Amino acid sequence: MNNSLTENYKSKISRILITEEEIKMKIKNVAEDINKSYDGKPVLLVSILKGAFVFMADICRHVNIPCEIGFMAAKSYYNSTVSSGKVTITMDLSQDLTKYHVIIVEDIIDTGRTLKEVVEILKSRNPISLKVITLLDKPSRRTVDFNADVSLFTIPDLFVIGYGLDCGEYYRNLPYIAEYQK
Ligand code: IMP
Ligand code: MG
Repeated sequence: MNNSLTENYKSKISRILITEEEIKMKIKNVAEDINKSYDGKPVLLVSILKGAFVFMADICRHVNIPCEIGFMAAKSYYNSTVSSGKVTITMDLSQDLTKYHVIIVEDIIDTGRTLKEVVEILKSRNPISLKVITLLDKPSRRTVDFNADVSLFTIPDLFVIGYGLDCGEYYRNLPYIAEYQK
């Protein structure tokens, strides 16, 4: 039975940009690279909540070497008159990073502010190495000098939802990436 809340919700899912199958294929390749490059090394996969939770769950199930999982949450404060946003860590890792090769698993790099700050914070804790893998990249929106080591999909300047990404906390559960109808 449909109601207006559900109808409105569905009407905002404009078009599928990246299908489940396309995401799956790329994830397999990225996980294979991790399996080869990090074999025999202590690995910590770190994801930034909440957006990256689906990507993390999928990627870690294709990693077949020993690895640990960690979660962080960050809040960004934007000020239109200042070019750099301030990021506060609202949930932190418990691991001693000096013992790990850290791989950050992120959902999307937009302005780049969040990840640039998170990377600086994590680097200051002296991990053995640090890499950033992002599912989506919107390079045309960048306001700071930051790029991921690996990005699975480059997308144009569109607001996207699904596969962990939200609009007003909805749509994270969609299995694909769609354009949001404003
Ligand atoms: P930043 O601008 O690179 O700092 O991105 C901050 C955060 O904004 C990302 O981690 C996402 O959670 C969110 N974000 C940016 N673009 C989108 C989008 O198109 N859809 C949903 N969330 C987004
Ligand atoms: Mg995010």
